[in-house]
Amino acid sequence: MSRPDTRVAVLISGEGSNLQALIDAARTGQLGARIVTVVSNRGAARGLERARAAGIEALHLGAVRGQERADYDAALAALLAPREPDLVVLAGFMRILGPRFVEIYRGRMLNLHPSLLPNYPGLDTHRRVLEAADEWHGATVHFVTDELDGGPAVIQYRLPVSGGDTADSLAQRVHRGEHLILPRAVSWFAAGRLRLAGGSVMLDGRALDAPVSVDEEGALK
Ligand code: GRF
Repeated sequence: MSRPDTRVAVLISGEGSNLQALIDAARTGQLGARIVTVVSNRGAARGLERARAAGIEALHLGAVRGQERADYDAALAALLAPREPDLVVLAGFMRILGPRFVEIYRGRMLNLHPSLLPNYPGLDTHRRVLEAADEWHGATVHFVTDELDGGPAVIQYRLPVSGGDTADSLAQRVHRGEHLILPRAVSWFAAGRLRLAGGSVMLDGRALDAPVSVDEEGALK
């Protein structure tokens, strides 16, 4: 059943091009969800401007120097709670969230990561892919669990690495794919098609044994 009233909170740290993809999809009705707030841990994040330009609440929650991770997470949870998000989307949010926060939004939090997980969790994925001379690279949307970049994967964008690729060109190519897969995953969640059951991703009532795969033409596999 479609629930266009699905409330989404988006957490960002920077450019916010993935946030923009969500805003655009919401505008055209493809998201089937409403972005109710955007929170950045960096005040200068361009994504905050994108949110404001779209008439969406845009908040900066910076970490205080020396602040414990758990205290930041508690402040973030307190900020989000009254906004009652059904789904929290980490769209380039460059902070690790601790187990308490993750527990609050278990099964209701998606992260976007620029690699074909489980390959290359963590930072610097494009450089690491080139160093390993991998043939394939991409991006993954996954449910967030306690394991960094380790939760069950929902959808992946796959691209063949070419001989001329640099870390910058891969970053651009991966970004284009991220803009396809993130709104798609959010729209599935909003439509009640996507959920986490135990450790399994359920899509349309069936457990996925592998993430849905999208190629450079945008075709689903
Ligand atoms: C994306 O590549 C995402 O995978 C990574 O940070 C980047 C965010 O880009 N974690 P943007 O801010 O959405 O443009």
